[in-house]
Amino acid sequence: MSGGLSDSSSSENGEVLKGYIPVGLWDIEPNSFLNFSLYIHFQVNQKLLLFRKKGEILEKEVFEKFKGRKLTTFYVQEAEREVFLKQSTSKFSKIINDESLSEDDKKHLIKEATENILTGLFTADYDEKKIEEVHKNAVGMVKEIIAEVADKKLSSIYDKIIDIINKNQSPLTAHSLNVSTFSVMFAMGLGFINKKSLTAIGVSGIVHDIGLFSIDAQLVEKYRYDESTLTAEELTTVMGHAEESVRLMRAKMKNVDEEVEKIIIQHHERPDGRGYPNQLTSTFIHHLGKIVSVANDFEKLVSGMGRQGKKMSPLAALDLMKAEFEAQISDGPESSKGAGKGAGKGAGKYDENIFFGIFNLIKR
Ligand SMILES: [Fe+2]
Ligand SMILES: [Fe+2]
Repeated sequence: MSGGLSDSSSSENGEVLKGYIPVGLWDIEPNSFLNFSLYIHFQVNQKLLLFRKKGEILEKEVFEKFKGRKLTTFYVQEAEREVFLKQSTSKFSKIINDESLSEDDKKHLIKEATENILTGLFTADYDEKKIEEVHKNAVGMVKEIIAEVADKKLSSIYDKIIDIINKNQSPLTAHSLNVSTFSVMFAMGLGFINKKSLTAIGVSGIVHDIGLFSIDAQLVEKYRYDESTLTAEELTTVMGHAEESVRLMRAKMKNVDEEVEKIIIQHHERPDGRGYPNQLTSTFIHHLGKIVSVANDFEKLVSGMGRQGKKMSPLAALDLMKAEFEAQISDGPESSKGAGKGAGKGAGKYDENIFFGIFNLIKR
């Protein structure tokens, strides 16, 4: 067997991990040559050991043995993050671009690969710092996937926006990037693997809230942390952001993609018709818009952008969303009070299939 363990370094208090990023084995393809070196960390004695050298392979049996391991286990050098991300996402583009596979086979394989990433991402031992790194990896992965499979015209927009975001980092831009990333992953896991759709949802996720930049920053802050403190007038102003996002996009570029516009303007619509700006009911909301809506709420909870700034673990956030959603849809006629015309019995803030599809992707 190649790649025996060799001692790299060791010290107290996790210092040894400086310059390394935690990765999950779910990101690594077994039995193929690694473009990066893989390290293993032993918490008991704070030792970091070289597990597989760049150019070696991670054997299928070893992969299977370690698959369910927690995030604390595997590391890659920060300097090799890019190559690591490139290699770990290549399986997605390979599948999507493989003409010998049927559409159903592709969906199945992509779903499996996405499930591995998502369960790894969100069920790993919860540690804010590590989760941040893992989110960074997720963002990088989706960027790679988009670059590889994307609809060319749309993907150049995506790249440009990512550049702008990287230069102007703020909680709002981080939120946008995460929503985009989660949305693309959820879409892939749910079987929406059409190249144009994937790029459209990626772009929409990034742009969905740019309209908030046109609103007084203090008001946006208030809205983010506790919506219930807003006056009716303030609420109306804030609710204008979905349309404002589209307006700004149209002002900045010609020929905005129609699907992108729909997703953006609908990201606060709800199948029960109680959303905004147009109180649309389920059949009138774009399926990708419904995904962004779930990703949007989920991201706010895990990043502490909602509920008085309290950061929740991804699993706790999902459970909370499920409990609230189930209460809405099981309340019977009471819950339909105020719901839009034609909302249908049992409609709530999310699309049922999409919400539970995402929930099951992560919490298998
Ligand atoms: Fe929004
Ligand atoms: Fe948002």
